Amino acid sequence: MKKSEITKKYLKKIKLINKFNKFYFEKDKPIVSDGVYDDLKKEILLLERKYIFLNSKNSPSQVVGHKPSKNFKKVQHKVPMLSLSNAFTEEDLKNFEKKISNFLSKKNDFKIFYSAEPKIDGISASLTYKNGNLIRGLSRGDGKEGEDITDNLITIKDIPKKILSKDFPEEIDVRGEVFIQNSDFEYLKDKFANPRNAASGSLRQKNSGDTKKIPLKFIAYTFGFENGLKAENQSDYLKKLDQWGFKINPLNKLISGLENLIQNYNEIEKKRADLDFDIDGIVYKVNDFALQKRLGNVANAPRWAIAHKFSSNKAISQVKDIEIQIGRTGALTPVAKIKPINIGGVIVSNATLHNEDEIERKDIRIGDTVKVERAGDVIPHVISVDVSKRKNTSKKFIFPKKCPCGYDAIKEFNKVTKKFDAVRRCPDRGFECNRIAKEKIKHFVSKEAFNIDGFGKKIVEKFWELKLIKLPQDIFKLDFDRIQKLDGWGQLSADNLKYSINEKKQISLERFIYSLGIRHIGLENAKLLSKYLGSFQKFKNLSKNNKCDELLNIDGIGETQLVSIKNFFSKNINLKILNELERLLKIVNAKALNTNGLLRDKSFLVTGKLNNISRAEVKSLIEENSGTTVSSVSKKLNYLITGEKPTKRKIESARALKIKIINQDEFLKMLNKTS
Ligand code: IVH
Repeated sequence: MKKSEITKKYLKKIKLINKFNKFYFEKDKPIVSDGVYDDLKKEILLLERKYIFLNSKNSPSQVVGHKPSKNFKKVQHKVPMLSLSNAFTEEDLKNFEKKISNFLSKKNDFKIFYSAEPKIDGISASLTYKNGNLIRGLSRGDGKEGEDITDNLITIKDIPKKILSKDFPEEIDVRGEVFIQNSDFEYLKDKFANPRNAASGSLRQKNSGDTKKIPLKFIAYTFGFENGLKAENQSDYLKKLDQWGFKINPLNKLISGLENLIQNYNEIEKKRADLDFDIDGIVYKVNDFALQKRLGNVANAPRWAIAHKFSSNKAISQVKDIEIQIGRTGALTPVAKIKPINIGGVIVSNATLHNEDEIERKDIRIGDTVKVERAGDVIPHVISVDVSKRKNTSKKFIFPKKCPCGYDAIKEFNKVTKKFDAVRRCPDRGFECNRIAKEKIKHFVSKEAFNIDGFGKKIVEKFWELKLIKLPQDIFKLDFDRIQKLDGWGQLSADNLKYSINEKKQISLERFIYSLGIRHIGLENAKLLSKYLGSFQKFKNLSKNNKCDELLNIDGIGETQLVSIKNFFSKNINLKILNELERLLKIVNAKALNTNGLLRDKSFLVTGKLNNISRAEVKSLIEENSGTTVSSVSKKLNYLITGEKPTKRKIESARALKIKIINQDEFLKMLNKTS
């Protein structure tokens, strides 16, 4: 790669990380997980290490944290508040110790003692005391300049306002972490993603009265400027902090030797879910202040300390219970209820165990210590069990053989694989199983089905409990006078719901078929059936003898789908539902396929966000006009439609393949429309 290209790539990454910083530090609304952030930071630091010509004053290697926001008075820290380098692996840790030994010209057998301190994930603050009185409290800000948040800090009970001890220095900046306990976060969890955001948000309230309402805690761990401090090492300093009335971390330890550091790290990681405060790693500090002084700093982090971070997408927790959830298709899905734990900035309290076979294979039991992973947007799942932590009294989990509705749950035999399914199911008997029925209604109102505004899963649960709905048609016969009188409702919300329901009484055949939640009939298959059958009447006629078999003519519909459709029509309750819905709704026939439309023989792909038109609508517009849509840029593509924030790679590939790139207006013009 050319020098200019490398610089361009580097500056782009710097711009991105500063955008993440802005959202994290100024708005308290992170837009990416800690893992993504750490990876980006690592990439930048690696680039800088590899290409020495790269540098930027906005690089995370130069800037600590982020500039303070404008709401508070800015004050210079007498001694800058540094950041810590991170260690993610044992190898990183080994290198850290090796560098220290080399720097100090010590042999490998020189024993370095470290103060190992669990790294609380909160907001750091610097408290200035003069002659025993707290005179000012600053946030870290950009490390050099912080915000004066004294009024807010003095509302924190853990922060001593006056210290009378004889050996308390004449002047000192005591530094530590402001945080919120997990048990207190329970009451705030609807407002903030995690305890750190809650602490940061409340600490920077403009009105200190608002800060006081939130139970913030403070743990002290270091100092900035000092005059008269009599301590020779970190562990002595921590002891003094305790004597002066500060809270210190009860899990701090003095340790030497890499193996012992790692053992302590592993032990604390296992304890993490039991702690009442969030930690995201362990900080190791060379204990001896004289050695610290000799080691000094590199850029904005001390050479004598490092943060050994926990993985940002995995964590250890305990299984409190195993719950069986019943899905729309009757599948019994076991879910581990775990002790809530922060994984990459998200508090996780449920982890899927997939199915009965998975529990059996991993021998997961209630009470077990487990490792949980949260990767991307996938539901968190249990990856392994720490059998060494298991109590003698622990019992194997017995998977229920019955659905809570009382019916036997069975494992179906798969004719193709000649094996029994891993999933146990409550056989779908129409709407007889309460659990399945409720899930079917949730599906019926969901986004891709009836898409009724304001009728989400919670409302289905509530109306179900109140026996307001039992079957899909009940949605169109709701008693709004009663709803209006429910707790938390009123005339306006009842009227709004009534309006949204009425709006959706007209529905296309394909959405209608999809909304019925027939097993194996997802969106694509519903579309195929709708195109083939054309009308609701023809769909209903499938209930007649042998009518279903002809569906095998449809490309895409196979034996599995056929069996499922037959099963659906064999249930009287389903036929009754169809008749009722036919009476209440206007089910619009599928348009005969237009093969001679304006977009004939043309293929399209959309990238970026379009204005006032959804992807789904664009797709159906294209298809109605005989065009096709494709999912990636290839020679088969004729037009790339670009909206706001398009994927650059797609545009570049399209350019390389000389594919026409058009915007929304140009696309609509092809259909003789305007936006
Ligand atoms: S010492 C030079 N000790 O970690 C030393 N920091 O990335 C810098 N933190 O801003 C601070 N626990 O918010 C230190 N026991 C501990 C800590 C700790 C948490 C945070 C602190 C700091 C960040 C560094």
